[in-house]
Amino acid sequence: MHANNHSIKRVAVLLTALSLPSAVMAWPWSQDMMNQPSIKPQEGVMTPFPHRSVPVMGIPTKVASRDEAKDLVNPIPLSAASLKKGRTLFRIYCAACHGLSGKADSPVSGKIGAIDLTDDYVQKTLTEGWVWGTITFGSFVMPAYGVPGEQGGSNDLSVEERWHVVNYVKNGLVKESQVAAK
Ligand code: HEC
Repeated sequence: MHANNHSIKRVAVLLTALSLPSAVMAWPWSQDMMNQPSIKPQEGVMTPFPHRSVPVMGIPTKVASRDEAKDLVNPIPLSAASLKKGRTLFRIYCAACHGLSGKADSPVSGKIGAIDLTDDYVQKTLTEGWVWGTITFGSFVMPAYGVPGEQGGSNDLSVEERWHVVNYVKNGLVKESQVAAK
């Protein structure tokens, strides 16, 4: 009777010990793969590229501000595929503030002063490079989507993704909102 009681207690202690860490995902091996000695993206000093090497995507990214970006030529040709990518990204990254239609009609557009992207100001006055630069470096209130470090993070859009968004803003947004209005 006594011995029996003991072993029940022992089993109970063992079960508690086993189940506690798993409740918080704290097994030593839960993070082993994550915390290995490796260089993570954007971490540490990068080895300089060998002399005369060319970026794989062939797209220059060496502009430091929106002003410098304004005359960049869009390297992504306009195509159905690019518009589709741009549209998807726009709806994820931009619509919360600028509205799905781009017409500053989301619930927060007015509160933060997001502008109508279908206006002549964006459609005609601003260059494609400037729009790309706005996405990359942010604006006054608008956040940056292409600056690593403090201002950026998991929200970052790649260089190409930003050009797809430009293609959509400049070539898909107005057409789509006209179709929707009919
Ligand atoms: C957090 C809200 C927010 C998000 C998200 C946002 N914007 Fe904006 N955007 C603004 C506001 C506010 C302004 C006007 C004030 C300013 O320039 O910061 C603006 C201005 C702009 C302008 C005009 C810049 C100029 O020179 O006047 C463009 C173009 C633009 N946004 C495009 C985009 C695109 C494309 C996206 C998605 C990648 C996006 N925005 C995401 C808030 C946002």
